[in-house]
Amino acid sequence: MTAPKLALSEQAAADITADVVVVGTVQQDGGGFALAPGADAVDAAFDGSLVDILTSLGASGKAEEVVKVPTLGKLKAGVVLAVGLGKQDPTPEQVRRAAGASARALTGVKRACTLLSQVDLQAAIEGTVLGAYNFTEYKSDAGDGPVGRVDFAAENSKENKATLKAATAIAEAVATARDLINTPPNDLFPASFADRAVKLGEAAGLTVEVLDEKALRRGGFGGILGVGTGSSRLPRLVRLSYKGPRASKKVALVGKGITFDTGGISLKPPASMEEMTSDMSGAAAVVASVVLAAKLKYPLEVIATVPIAENMPSGTSYRPGDVLTMYGGKTVEVLNTDAEGRLILADAIVRAGEDNPDYLIETATLTGAQLVALGKRTAGVMGSDGFRDRVARIGQAVGENAWAMPLPEELRGDLDSRIADLANVTGHRWGGMLAAGLFLKEFVPADLEWAHIDVAGPAYNSGGAHGYTARGGTGVPVRTIAAVLADIAENG
Ligand code: BES
Ligand code: MN
Ligand code: ZN
Repeated sequence: MTAPKLALSEQAAADITADVVVVGTVQQDGGGFALAPGADAVDAAFDGSLVDILTSLGASGKAEEVVKVPTLGKLKAGVVLAVGLGKQDPTPEQVRRAAGASARALTGVKRACTLLSQVDLQAAIEGTVLGAYNFTEYKSDAGDGPVGRVDFAAENSKENKATLKAATAIAEAVATARDLINTPPNDLFPASFADRAVKLGEAAGLTVEVLDEKALRRGGFGGILGVGTGSSRLPRLVRLSYKGPRASKKVALVGKGITFDTGGISLKPPASMEEMTSDMSGAAAVVASVVLAAKLKYPLEVIATVPIAENMPSGTSYRPGDVLTMYGGKTVEVLNTDAEGRLILADAIVRAGEDNPDYLIETATLTGAQLVALGKRTAGVMGSDGFRDRVARIGQAVGENAWAMPLPEELRGDLDSRIADLANVTGHRWGGMLAAGLFLKEFVPADLEWAHIDVAGPAYNSGGAHGYTARGGTGVPVRTIAAVLADIAENG
């Protein structure tokens, strides 16, 4: 996609050389709404009547509402676009969503200037870039492009320039993940995904390694091979390593890269199966995150281990009843070939553990049960207690709505197998997200600080666009991972 050009601007409201000026509106506790901070000078050009004018046009300040007012020569800009922030004392997430809604409403506009940056610069930038995202790779006619350039009303200070750079890089990382997710499975398969990861990694100066099916066989990656050999397009394991200046901590990232999940021999029903193009969202997120870590020069060592396979039914597929010998030697009885994510992740987690990291962040579109428990927009976070809570808290702070979930001991026995060390599913539907987490736990080195983020719902928006979230791949949990890395860099 073509991202808008971004800049900081110190122009006075009356002189803003843009086609559209974006102002925020905020609902007041006592009823009615007010203009958000930064809009006073624009209001002055309307002799203080902007709220009245907006009211007459039906505005209320509610979140993501967009109302346009022609300036008729009162400002250089021809249009004021008022976007609702929702309730009073807006959080960064309210700003991000409003910025996203405004960017979507600016499609086709050459140049805009936003005053939302006066409320929160970083959130305004992230929301604007992400709201402008549109995946048009496969459209013969891409239509009006996103807004061409956005100026953020803010002092051109060193600090604000650094914020612009960081926020842009974070939003671009999310867009990278979205692009990978939105690429259809006939074009994004294990080898082509690995190639794209390598290109992204090399461009960012990372050390890259790709294991093809032969190397996987030599290495004994039974989980990845078991899942991946039902497809004519054989599996890969990609490793991307970044070592920052004065790296204090080592963080392992692991993400599920199922380029398409049919369920395999335990075939899924046809309804919405096409959404399983997004079953590599975890992999996309960790690839984008390690590249981002390098771009922002985090003082960390970050190593992404990315298992990639396509889960297909065929004469070479693995079967219910098969026993796989995983990387590291544990054996798993496959009772359902649709519980494939945990099998490729187990191999990758054991491999990632060999690097002796201080932390492991692993993310996956792992279970339908995540959707049942938490819905489409809230990720479930499991893992070691302290780190799990830290990741969930940071996920909430960045607006990705992560929620801590338990790994109840009593469920573990339900994964016992008659003939192998472990079965890949329990015999019941209770706590399916937690059972998957307990399965993964068997492969995590003891005492490693570990978080598993199940993004089955949040990774993919099957409804309409909202806030800064387009239809299709969302890029969740890239911003959570980025913020956790920044937090580890700062606080250990
Ligand atoms: N990729 C799916 C999980 C999923 C479901 C992601 C819906 C996004 C939306 C995963 O591989 C899967 O099929 N899980 C099974 C596990 C079950 C067989 C224990 C599920 O959740 O049904
Ligand atoms: Mn599956
Ligand atoms: Zn899957």
